[in-house]
Amino acid sequence: MEKPIRFGVSLPKDLLVKFDKLIREKNYPNRSKAIGDLIRQELVKKEWFTGKEVAGAITIIYDHHKGELLDKLTDIQHRFKKIIISTQHIHLDEDNCLEIIAARGKPEEIKKLADTLRAIKGVKHGALSMSSTGKEIE
Ligand code: NI
Repeated sequence: MEKPIRFGVSLPKDLLVKFDKLIREKNYPNRSKAIGDLIRQELVKKEWFTGKEVAGAITIIYDHHKGELLDKLTDIQHRFKKIIISTQHIHLDEDNCLEIIAARGKPEEIKKLADTLRAIKGVKHGALSMSSTGKEIE
């Protein structure tokens, strides 16, 4: 990372008070780290609209006893093997499984994978955590 540049920011007092309270609650060490993260958050959002390559994680919860669910899950993951980096399976209890699928690729492909997994009968919950390859948010 390059040497950080200092710059002045003017804000209404009330807004700054709220900001300081917020970053204290989030355990930020200082305003610089908090402001940097807010900017990166926006840059990552933009990457998902316009970026060529992004990274993220899809989390799904399902009951492994349900019908042909496991076959379908495996089929889909083979179909999307180009963008899947790894899959972690956790047995939550007798019935419920948690699967975390890490993916890297075009945003629309990762979204399609997430939508396809979520739509399988028996998948109780599916969430996509949209993150970054890290290259564009130094
Ligand atoms: Ni399991």
